[in-house]
Amino acid sequence: MDQTGQKRENWGSRFGFIMAAAGSAVGLGNIWRFPYLTGMNGGSAFILIYLFFVFVICLSVMIAEFTVGRNSGKAAVGAYKSKSRNWTFAGVIGVLSGFLIMGFYPVVGGWALAYIFKSFSGLLTTPEAIGDAFGAFIGNPVQPLIWMALFLVMNIFIVSRGVAKGIETAGKILMPMLFIILLLIAARGLTLEGASKGVEFLFKPDFSVVTGETFLAALGQAFFSLSLGMGCMITYGSYLNKSENLAQNAAIVTVMDTSAALLAGLAMFPAMFAFGFEPTAGPGLVFVVVPSIFAQLGALGPVLSAFFFVALVVAALTSSVSLLEVVVAYLMDERNWARKKAVYISSAIMVAMCVMASLSLGVMSGVTFLGVGAFDFFDILTDKIFLAIGGMLLAIFTGWFVDKEVLRQELTNGGTVSFALFEVWHGLIKYVIPVVIAVIAVTGIMSITQKGLMVFGLAVIAVLAVFSKKL
Ligand code: PHE
Repeated sequence: MDQTGQKRENWGSRFGFIMAAAGSAVGLGNIWRFPYLTGMNGGSAFILIYLFFVFVICLSVMIAEFTVGRNSGKAAVGAYKSKSRNWTFAGVIGVLSGFLIMGFYPVVGGWALAYIFKSFSGLLTTPEAIGDAFGAFIGNPVQPLIWMALFLVMNIFIVSRGVAKGIETAGKILMPMLFIILLLIAARGLTLEGASKGVEFLFKPDFSVVTGETFLAALGQAFFSLSLGMGCMITYGSYLNKSENLAQNAAIVTVMDTSAALLAGLAMFPAMFAFGFEPTAGPGLVFVVVPSIFAQLGALGPVLSAFFFVALVVAALTSSVSLLEVVVAYLMDERNWARKKAVYISSAIMVAMCVMASLSLGVMSGVTFLGVGAFDFFDILTDKIFLAIGGMLLAIFTGWFVDKEVLRQELTNGGTVSFALFEVWHGLIKYVIPVVIAVIAVTGIMSITQKGLMVFGLAVIAVLAVFSKKL
């Protein structure tokens, strides 16, 4: 019951839940970030490490998040708190991560939105200027802010409508559309002359480029892409019906997310190599490569390009909706706020953060904190530190502080469905995952360039942990 005496919200259907959870997972992380991280980290060696993390670590963490969420019937903070107040901080780190990611995510969502329209307004007619046009656009002090605000308004609209009517409906319509568009573009890219070099880059590993930082980047990306380590899947699990098979749903979502990332890679790299682009293009990759591909396709180019950016907006939207929901659910569960109030107030803070993030790529590029601008600050802090550590804390919590029988009952729906790998999963969560994440975090952090930022992030976690009981 919430403050208005209503029952806790629930998903309307199984398909709806899977689309919403997959919608959360499949996002900018898959289509914008995964390709450029792959490019910058040496291609297929990075992909192999990434896949290992996804299926060995993250799938288990997702099962744990669903289980803890549904068992407690609470969002991130409440789920921890209901067991022990010493653990409240782990949930708070999640909500904080939600805020921080929403400090840059809508900026990129806004770029994608702008590019739907730019596809038609002459961007493709001068292919040699596409790269410069992107740089000029994101550095502009006004334009990206307007698009970011528009993107956030769509979020506010969906989340304020609630779980089943808003989030679930959006996922059910938008997710299938996204997959179809990606498939079409990948098919086009793969049939270009010279495309095979791109396929080779994606699937022929070169381990000489792998360092400690590569592992941390792959781990952070795996958590980011699957929306883990920050309570998002705890929150979505808490709206889930008791008859759902948690492990099976987690596997479906993980496979969908991984396919979307690989599909995005296939849509991007073959075409890039065919056109002679550098794979290390960085965050501008999709915004430069995709329009360049379509610029070669004549009259149909603008239409297809617009389609692609619609897909990107769709992917971003169903994810940012889940990020906002983590914050909103916390305010509703723990602070007894009404949904609308929670949505409006938290989005207002997110707007302010996004303005700083966007300006940090242009007029405010000289303003840095611990060596980075606002955009990178929000990004690096979450995906290199908070998410992986959040995932580690969740694994420790689930493995050591939740009764094993309670977990077994929850995962098998009181013995009515089977989960043959229960023991394996429990062993992974309890012993393997905490150690693996700790090792990667330590070696990764030692080899990272932004040391000050790393120390700052760890200090925040330590302070929250010390004051956990007061949170
Ligand atoms: N998984 C989303 C993406 O890949 C981002 C996200 C992270 C969403 C954490 C929710 C929670 O873009």
